Amino acid sequence: MNSWVTEQTQKSISRFDETMDNLYPESKEYSKNAQSFMDHIYKETNYIEAIKMLDWDHYLPTNASLLDLGCGIGWVSAYLSKNKNVSQITCVDSSKYFVNDLLPNVFQYMDANLEKTTSVEGFFSPILLEDDSIDGVVICASIHHADNMEEVLRECYRVLKPGGRLYILNEDPRTAWKYLMLSFRCFIKILWHIIFKKYKSISLSMSYSNILIDPDLGDRAYPVWVMMDMLKASGFKDVVKVDSGYRHSKTSTHADNTPLTHFICTKE
Ligand SMILES: C[S@@+](CC[C@H](N)C(=O)[O-])C[C@H]1O[C@@H](n2cnc3c(N)ncnc32)[C@H](O)[C@@H]1O
Repeated sequence: MNSWVTEQTQKSISRFDETMDNLYPESKEYSKNAQSFMDHIYKETNYIEAIKMLDWDHYLPTNASLLDLGCGIGWVSAYLSKNKNVSQITCVDSSKYFVNDLLPNVFQYMDANLEKTTSVEGFFSPILLEDDSIDGVVICASIHHADNMEEVLRECYRVLKPGGRLYILNEDPRTAWKYLMLSFRCFIKILWHIIFKKYKSISLSMSYSNILIDPDLGDRAYPVWVMMDMLKASGFKDVVKVDSGYRHSKTSTHADNTPLTHFICTKE
């Protein structure tokens, strides 16, 4: 029997790259090479500072094997590869360009340890690793792109060894008030489309657990309690929310410059 599945999947990959190029042309400027991308992250954002505030020596067991899901250009893995406790990192992202072209250069730029790393072009889920096989899963600023976050969390739980940790980093979960205000704004938009009979091929959608705020990039906003409860529902224990004390941007004073939050939890 012939199957189109592999080719169809190959063709659907890199949607993120194409959308960024088409809708956010300014990103082409900084994403053209590893150095300009890293310069952008260092100068414009607090992403690295927010990761560095965690006590990684405390969290990582010796000889730790890690999975970096939605690794992007790989700067988080590059940073962690320099930790003496880390022995191996599998970096997965659906962007061919990030994983194949930029990631090795980012490691070089950050003077990191590329030998510890295997980079893989792939989706969040299913994770093609054995049950109970790794010590830690890192997901930085990515899990809110998952169509089904709970499915990804359950996969993380499955592949972690007992005692292994999941690190969800640099997220911006909404407080109840902010989620309510966002829902209200979305509701007004929906009403407007209904009243004026407007059609939109890709549109936002909302539920009590998340709002698809950027349908092109698959960006979803989650309330804090949903993230916490979903982690618990996926089997994780000792779920801790860590406020990094940093906001996304170093330069913006706009209200959408939200705080960067981490979630850390354990498989028992
Ligand atoms: C905002 S970036 C974060 C990248 C990186 N972790 C960081 O902190 O810079 C989100 C990443 O998720 C990736 N991504 C989006 N949807 C994905 C999916 N379904 N499977 C795997 N990666 C995905 C994108 O290609 C992109 O690199």
